[in-house]
Amino acid sequence: MKIAIDGPAGSGKSTIAKILSEKLNLPYLDTGKVYRAFAYIAKEEGIDMTDKKQVLSLFDKAPVVNISVAKTEIIFRGRCLDVELKGEEIGRYASIMGSIPEFRERMVKFFRNLVGDTQVVAEGRDVGTHIFPDAPIKLFITASLEERARRRFLELSGVSFEEVLKALSERDKRDMERPIYPFRPAEDAIIVDTTGKSVEKTVEEVLGIIKRKAPQH
Ligand code: DC
Repeated sequence: MKIAIDGPAGSGKSTIAKILSEKLNLPYLDTGKVYRAFAYIAKEEGIDMTDKKQVLSLFDKAPVVNISVAKTEIIFRGRCLDVELKGEEIGRYASIMGSIPEFRERMVKFFRNLVGDTQVVAEGRDVGTHIFPDAPIKLFITASLEERARRRFLELSGVSFEEVLKALSERDKRDMERPIYPFRPAEDAIIVDTTGKSVEKTVEEVLGIIKRKAPQH
């Protein structure tokens, strides 16, 4: 079974996806982390992130991605990338590169090849709409902009709440307004609003949805 979880930054989707991966014993694919890894490599290699040709050339030096329960591991030139991929700046680069339609198409193929026929909990911005449109369970996890910014602010250091709020709303806008493959919920996704809800409450709600849609799990 494939579980597709999409949602904006700070919605709580990664937390929920990881818990589901553990509870259901399924590998976890964080597609945003892979987008961030490509952005990091582009930066390291001095690539113009708005130039289609240069960005597509990154697939010649793509990182190795390993997925397992609650973990998406990224290896580039023998080094495990992790802390380098956190923060709003690299998220912004990932979002800028993600606005190139040809890059998104290659990424969709990259993710499908990686997962193949295996079961997975995959999260991102286009899992239910493009990567795994046949996933039997699609969740769109969201929360108000203020609450998402508050959560991100508490995770990050050295930035003000206002800066985080501005960065998130700009990223949402870019992701949602790109002319091709805009970020939006799949038509058959169930919307889960986590505003004012605890992680436990959200997990309970999501497990209830999975039980209803896929009773064998
Ligand atoms: O989920 P995240 O914050 O780690 O994602 C960072 C950016 O990467 C996001 O703002 C847009 C891009 N992204 C994407 O375009 N498609 C995905 N499936 C995942 C991320």
